[in-house]
Amino acid sequence: MSPKIICLSIFIALLAALASTNFSTPLDILKHLAQFSPPTLSSIPLIIHTLISRSHHHRHHRRPDDKNTTKTICDNFPPDIPPTDTNTTSFLCVDSNGCCNFTTVQAAVDAVGVMSPKRTIIWINNGIYFEKVIVPKTKPNITFQGQGYTSTAIVWNDTANSSHGTFYSGSVQVFAPSFIAKNISFMNVAPIPGPGAFGAQAVALRIAGDEAVFWGCGFFGAQDTLHDDRGRHYFKDCYIQGSIDFIFGNGKSFYENCHITSIASPVAPGARVINGAVTAHGRASKDENSGFSFVNCTIGGTGRIWLGRAWRPFSTVVFSYTTMSDIIAPEGWNDFNDPTRDQTIFYGEYNCTGDGANITLRAPYVLRLNDTQASPFLNVSFIDADQWLQPFT
Ligand SMILES: *[C@@H]1O[C@H](CO)[C@@H](O)[C@H](O)[C@H]1NC(C)=O
Ligand SMILES: *[C@@H]1O[C@H](CO)[C@@H](O)[C@H](O)[C@H]1NC(C)=O
Ligand SMILES: *[C@@H]1O[C@H](CO)[C@@H](O)[C@H](O)[C@H]1NC(C)=O
Ligand SMILES: *[C@@H]1O[C@H](CO)[C@@H](O)[C@H](O)[C@H]1NC(C)=O
Ligand SMILES: *[C@@H]1O[C@H](CO)[C@@H](O)[C@H](O)[C@H]1NC(C)=O
Ligand SMILES: *[C@@H]1O[C@H](CO)[C@@H](O)[C@H](O)[C@H]1NC(C)=O
Ligand SMILES: *[C@@H]1O[C@H](CO)[C@@H](O)[C@H](O)[C@H]1NC(C)=O
Ligand SMILES: *[C@@H]1O[C@H](CO)[C@@H](O)[C@H](O)[C@H]1NC(C)=O
Ligand SMILES: *[C@@H]1O[C@H](CO)[C@@H](O)[C@H](O)[C@H]1NC(C)=O
Ligand SMILES: *[C@@H]1O[C@H](CO)[C@@H](O)[C@H](O)[C@H]1NC(C)=O
Ligand SMILES: *[C@@H]1O[C@H](CO)[C@@H](O)[C@H](O)[C@H]1NC(C)=O
Ligand SMILES: *[C@@H]1O[C@H](CO)[C@@H](O)[C@H](O)[C@H]1NC(C)=O
Repeated sequence: MSPKIICLSIFIALLAALASTNFSTPLDILKHLAQFSPPTLSSIPLIIHTLISRSHHHRHHRRPDDKNTTKTICDNFPPDIPPTDTNTTSFLCVDSNGCCNFTTVQAAVDAVGVMSPKRTIIWINNGIYFEKVIVPKTKPNITFQGQGYTSTAIVWNDTANSSHGTFYSGSVQVFAPSFIAKNISFMNVAPIPGPGAFGAQAVALRIAGDEAVFWGCGFFGAQDTLHDDRGRHYFKDCYIQGSIDFIFGNGKSFYENCHITSIASPVAPGARVINGAVTAHGRASKDENSGFSFVNCTIGGTGRIWLGRAWRPFSTVVFSYTTMSDIIAPEGWNDFNDPTRDQTIFYGEYNCTGDGANITLRAPYVLRLNDTQASPFLNVSFIDADQWLQPFT
């Protein structure tokens, strides 16, 4: 069998297996995401895709019903959503069944005033919102409040090819400062690129505004899932899934207590194949101060991957107190096949554990940080939190 046919058979088998477990909605699938064993995870976006088309189909059939059906759906809707506006906060509500202000997230974003001095909380009900969303520069201080990363998701399927470049493929793209997302997932369900694919990169979220916060969020994709583009960002208790360079960009970001899952294809024990990388940080010069710092995270899943590769010469990434499974290649990191970068990249590890954290065979430029060297990376002062980061409420 050609690899393609094998893949297809596996996919069909999975679909059959999943169909027999009676998932009636895409949400049930989403709820399963966190529990799935990694090999199965890789097919989830495709399955969700199938279910989405199926659910659209169903809805079309139900739509012409009398109004009583709609009434029943909204009868369960909490009466105090959205809460009334206050002097400092506006509220908008999104529900795919039409039970409150808007049925799409973008419509709610569009309704926010330009440079509104208040924070706008966009409350998003359970559901999958199949749309591409842009938060423009002129709309700072927006919060997306979901109902849990396994029950609320914004999903689209652009690729580098379909959107004229990886940077525009994001299902959600945020250019505004002071953006907050809580308990919601961002997904790109474009087909997972096969080996050597071209133009298949597919971003789930691009964050290009300063002072952004993600609490309890999910990021689902394969190649280039999370475009941590520029600015200072805080990710806490998040779930991040991908294969190649799946956290990339030139942001200055602190990742705390996040679960990082590789869905790169499984590699036979002993095979010297590398088929993924967690990070591709894009710092280009000494004059910038960007970098990714991961503390108290876990890395697991499938494939054999690097912790990072040097997309640009001053790429800066540190992992501390992070548990790594044996999917991490012994050399750990990659200089993008450009040995001149070995002098300028800053790749550090500090106090990590697990089979993948054995640094005996690490590439020579990898830094085993001592306490002093690690300290700037160990807490939110790395992103100047005292100047802007509000506690979770
Ligand atoms: C799926 O649902 C059908 C009808 O509701 C039921 O008969 C069947 O046993 C269910 N299958 C599984 C695997 O739960
Ligand atoms: C719709 O609901 C109302 C009140 O609950 C009921 O009187 C009416 O018969 C229903 N209409 C249909 C078409 O079921
Ligand atoms: C909100 O604004 C109104 C009108 O400016 C003012 O009367 C009221 O005291 C303010 N409330 C709070 C809690 O600041
Ligand atoms: C949103 O819905 C609430 C409650 O029904 C309402 O008070 C508010 O005016 C709506 N806002 C917009 C922008 O439609
Ligand atoms: C955003 O919110 C912060 C704090 O609430 C406020 O200081 C700032 O002026 C707001 N920004 C804009 C552009 O409204
Ligand atoms: C929302 O996020 C917070 C912080 O990450 C978490 O404690 C809480 O359990 C989440 N709630 C849901 C419904 O996911
Ligand atoms: C996205 O999904 C739609 C609907 O299934 C499909 O028509 C379109 O080709 C997909 N786009 C990409 C880039 O895969
Ligand atoms: C992207 O476009 C190029 C050039 O048209 C094509 O060769 C390639 O197969 C496309 N990739 C995908 C994933 O569709
Ligand atoms: C590692 O962590 C322990 C406990 O927090 C600490 O005592 C030790 O100094 C740290 N440093 C290194 C290099 O392991
Ligand atoms: C780390 O790797 C080296 C080289 O493969 C091996 O000799 C050593 O036993 C490993 N250490 C641990 C703690 O597994
Ligand atoms: C940590 O490493 C730096 C750079 O190698 C060195 O200058 C410093 O003395 C070390 N500090 C400790 C406490 O070992
Ligand atoms: C990491 O976990 C340790 C142990 O639970 C805790 O003491 C420390 O504050 C955590 N650090 C961060 C940045 O979350």
